[in-house]
Amino acid sequence: MKIGVLTSGGDAPGMNAAVRAVVRVGDIHGHQVYGIRDGYAGLINDDMYLLTHESVSGMIALGGTFLGTSRSEDFMKIEGKQKAVNNLLNRGIEALIVIGGDGTYRGAMDLTKLGIKTIGLPGTIDNDIPGTDFTIGFQTAVETIVDAIDKLRDTSTSHQRCSIVEVMGRHCGDLALYAGICGGAEFIVTPENPMNKDQIISRLKKHKADGRRHAIIVLTENIIDAHDFAKEITEKSGFDSRATVLGYIQRGGSPCPEDRILASRLGTYAVELLNDDIYGVCVGVRDNRVIHLPFANVVGQKRPKNELYKMVKKVS
Ligand code: F6P
Repeated sequence: MKIGVLTSGGDAPGMNAAVRAVVRVGDIHGHQVYGIRDGYAGLINDDMYLLTHESVSGMIALGGTFLGTSRSEDFMKIEGKQKAVNNLLNRGIEALIVIGGDGTYRGAMDLTKLGIKTIGLPGTIDNDIPGTDFTIGFQTAVETIVDAIDKLRDTSTSHQRCSIVEVMGRHCGDLALYAGICGGAEFIVTPENPMNKDQIISRLKKHKADGRRHAIIVLTENIIDAHDFAKEITEKSGFDSRATVLGYIQRGGSPCPEDRILASRLGTYAVELLNDDIYGVCVGVRDNRVIHLPFANVVGQKRPKNELYKMVKKVS
């Protein structure tokens, strides 16, 4: 069988490891795997090439996505999708493995309806995909954030400051939650765990009165302007405050061991599903077992609130 593979949406460490697994396991089962450049844009532009065992050598350790990625506007339109399908079928490519987040899955679901045997792999640092405990790239991004928090703690303790660390996640608080726990943050503010500004300020006043030398607030993006909040804390709590917006650094870097293993497992599983003629599904890991679910059970669905929030108050 000819299988296409692409990465789409925001890049995430481990995407290359997933492509590598698809190519190598595909090869073992006698499939030909075509890499599609720049996500769905490459499908529309017919920009694809044959990948071999050798061509993915060294990819397990490489950050970003060597195939390139995009958020294609043209692919949102039905004409774009139809062109993509025609390009695949003209080359005899009947199956497609996509690695990305929610937007990528929506596109994949449509391609399945248009006759392409599609499988989705969760690739995003946000960990915001229902149906999997972890997404490829999340654990590496948590490591990057924890490293930053550890460094910020040094300087905020020296200067007796409160550091606000704004992290990515779009509308999901998992990056802030996991990194906040690992970094010993005093406050973790996320969409799932909104916090009253006045409450934070009054608790900071108390911290100051108790003689604490620093405080760390980890905040998910898109909630509040971190720099404005730092000014307000400085003015109202007596704790001098600074904000650091970590930004795109969170998406880069060599994938950590957990992401390399997750990517390898899910890439392998996707090919095995195609061997069994199972498609129209996305794969994930639950309780350390690989699983697959129809796209419709995952796209646009909400994840339950993370159990770890119950612990946060006790340990921070
Ligand atoms: O989905 C990954 C992510 O990094 C989000 O955390 C963030 O909100 C978004 O992508 C940024 O997207 P862009 O690369 O289009 O600026």
